[in-house]
Amino acid sequence: MMTRRTLRLDASADGLAAAAQLLRDGGLVAFPTETVYGLGGDATNGRAVAGIYAAKGRPPFNPLISHVPDLAAARQFGVFDAVALRLAERFWPGPLTLVVPAVARSGVSELAMAGLPTIALRVPATQTARALLRQVGRPVTAPSANVSGHVSPTTAAHVLADLDGRIDAVVDGGPTQVGVESTVVAVVDGVATLLRPGGVTRSALEAVLGGKLAENAAADPARPVSPGMLASHYAPNAQVRLNVDEVRVGEALLTFGCARPAGSGRAVMTLDLSEGGDLAEAAANLFGALRRLDAAGVATIAVAPVPDRDLGEAINDRLRRAAAPK
Ligand code: TXA
Ligand code: MG
Repeated sequence: MMTRRTLRLDASADGLAAAAQLLRDGGLVAFPTETVYGLGGDATNGRAVAGIYAAKGRPPFNPLISHVPDLAAARQFGVFDAVALRLAERFWPGPLTLVVPAVARSGVSELAMAGLPTIALRVPATQTARALLRQVGRPVTAPSANVSGHVSPTTAAHVLADLDGRIDAVVDGGPTQVGVESTVVAVVDGVATLLRPGGVTRSALEAVLGGKLAENAAADPARPVSPGMLASHYAPNAQVRLNVDEVRVGEALLTFGCARPAGSGRAVMTLDLSEGGDLAEAAANLFGALRRLDAAGVATIAVAPVPDRDLGEAINDRLRRAAAPK
């Protein structure tokens, strides 16, 4: 891996102009979306896309999301049927990624799509991201800006902790609002399938669809429908133990709401995702809390139960992956 100086840019007009120029020149630039920081590269530039996989150490069978400033731009790269259009019109800009049939010869690199006949498209909601995408004028492919398998970044400092010296720049737009990644929904032949829970809740999607989402049939881990859904992911260095009702000696503790498991006083360090029991606040705090507890150097992070409704579904998905054997 070539080392380079990683520029710290702010989200001012000058900062964004510099970031856009770097992206147009094939550079790698991390930028804030409303979910997590993305590691951006020009989706039409195969070398830039290869650089993203290399900087993250990401397995190349895992396709990337192409980010665009609006639905009109998305339709240059993906085929939107009536169902996909309805979801895009309701939830974009916002934390929803749509996987749709790819437009042939659209210019997006085969590597970004990992050779699949479908493409993942997303219109992020931050002003910073949208202004940047408009200036670049090309789709920007961006996975979360962390080393593959690590906890996703919700601040510029998290990005630098993983990728300083491996990427050209990071645009600092402050902490992200949503805190967990976008919901990924495939829409093929009029059927909407949930591939990854995320910032848009299942109930919000089903209200717009007027019916249930189809479930991801990928019980076969060798060939997942969404290739990125690896069991171990978002993993801190510490072991993660879920749904604890009793804290063991030497553990750090992550809680939700005012409930405390037995033996809480033994915890080396305790963080609460949301004292008021608010799932949106908990999602925004999740990855930062995992990083802080991990930094305490404990062998195990004990996690109290989080309700599975609304954003709790995405939070519990990420926690299960953090707890999976590495
Ligand atoms: O919130 C987010 O989605 C963030 C920000 C930066 O936009 N990005 C992100 O990217 O989480 P990444 O690469 O970590 O996750 C992309 C997910 C993976 O699970 C991948 O397998 C799936 O989208 N995906 C991409 N293209 C796909 C395709 N053609 N078919 C099925 N799944 C696809
Ligand atoms: Mg990721």
